[in-house]
Amino acid sequence: MADKLIIFDTTLRDGEQSPGASMTKDEKLRIARQLERLKVDVIEAGFAASSNGDFEAVHAIANAIKDSTICSLSRANDRDIARAAEALQGAASARIHTFIATSALHMEKKLRMTPEQVLEQAIQAVRFARNLVGDIEFSAEDGYRSDPDFLCRVIEAVIAEGATTINVPDTVGYAVPELYGNFIKNLRERVPNSDKAIWSVHCHNDLGMAVANSLAGVKIGGARQVECTINGLGERAGNCSLEEVVMAVKTRRDYYGLDVGIDTKHIVAASRMVSQTTGFVVQPNKAVVGANAFAHASGIHQDGVLKARDTYEIMRAEDVGWSANKIVLGKLSGRNAFKQRLQELGVQLESETDVNNAFAKFKELADRKSEIFDEDILALVSDESVTSEKEQFGFVSLSQHSETGERPQAAIVFTVDGKEVRSQSDGNGPVDASLKAIELHVQSGAEMVLYSVNAISGSTESQGEVTVRLQNSGRVVNGVGSDPDIVVASAKAYLSALNKLQSKADRVAAQG
Ligand code: KIV
Ligand code: ZN
Repeated sequence: MADKLIIFDTTLRDGEQSPGASMTKDEKLRIARQLERLKVDVIEAGFAASSNGDFEAVHAIANAIKDSTICSLSRANDRDIARAAEALQGAASARIHTFIATSALHMEKKLRMTPEQVLEQAIQAVRFARNLVGDIEFSAEDGYRSDPDFLCRVIEAVIAEGATTINVPDTVGYAVPELYGNFIKNLRERVPNSDKAIWSVHCHNDLGMAVANSLAGVKIGGARQVECTINGLGERAGNCSLEEVVMAVKTRRDYYGLDVGIDTKHIVAASRMVSQTTGFVVQPNKAVVGANAFAHASGIHQDGVLKARDTYEIMRAEDVGWSANKIVLGKLSGRNAFKQRLQELGVQLESETDVNNAFAKFKELADRKSEIFDEDILALVSDESVTSEKEQFGFVSLSQHSETGERPQAAIVFTVDGKEVRSQSDGNGPVDASLKAIELHVQSGAEMVLYSVNAISGSTESQGEVTVRLQNSGRVVNGVGSDPDIVVASAKAYLSALNKLQSKADRVAAQG
């Protein structure tokens, strides 16, 4: 029997550290359910000690998910570890992931600790965690840039204390495949009790090599866990992408000889859900999940694929869930059909009121758009007005006028703490006028650092999905809004970003 490669997804923790990618508890729960449907082995649900919001999200996920192990990150101290254990209470299978930096640079400049102090703290942390939960992962942050002799001492000691998984991150994305693979191999050969733990790789994508490095860590180094995120989401250039690493191991099983438990036909839905939730758009030529990943534009390729598919295709689009892109509902669909489709998409709205709100929005949309796709439904339930979570700002209505040669005008009605307010402004274009009208009333002072529009399902009849990234006092948030009218979608996205700016609690940053 082939070895199994454990897929550890950290979209909700390392992915969420990406500026602007912060998610609400409900959004995280929805993604966690999709990860469970994908059959991800371990879901890193957050960093419980970093904020009350993270604690609540980890706790909710730990109690909702039954088929994947739920993990919380924690620094190597008793307070963080106890908080992680508390958040994980109720989980069918729980893991504490504790970490401390081991590179000379990080120990000296960031932690201001000696190597002996770091070694002692790592031992104490694993000892403490082991009394709370049986499944303990230890990460040596900036492991790849650490002195191998010191790293061997730390790893041997934490395995002796009961760490069951050893993760060696390339925190800053500095590694190259062969060297990283050999680095892991060398550690495994030198640490006397290395066979008592599963070895894991965690690579960042700063040089575009996160997937290649992770695969080398598996093939050359013998790691049997890969840490990754949907769409490669993550700080800076992101993390190793789940869909790429999984499809590489599956497609080249002849080379890797490993089994992965992932149910790949849910990959595309997971990718869309993460991109719609965070506002991080997937580039069209992104492997596996990009809109062009299976599109053959050149006549020669089209001809070849029609004659024999494997002339130019190494994977089948339907195996990663592309065929799921079908018309699901229309104007005449009833509430039950709508509810069932929500279930099939893994969306669990908290109350019947939320279902009714979503159904009302669906009917409004079906009146304006003849074909409703899965993406439309996912966008619709991401709309804050659907859930009963009370937000400070809510969209009500908008009118705008633009004409060649005239300066565009917009008048908007929106709610602030439940009360309707009206505001109007002119602007360079209708979108600019609408957002200026909101800002005129709210006076947030936030700076817009990104504005992007994307057609959800390809045609001009499609809904426009807008991402607005705002920055204020060092905080960065993304707001997402969708509507067949892109000016309305823009206003919704702006209000959603203001809500996030309002609610985003200060949290302790994990490194890497
Ligand atoms: O990149 C990194 O080192 C991390 C650790 C906290 C695991 O994310
Ligand atoms: Zn990381």
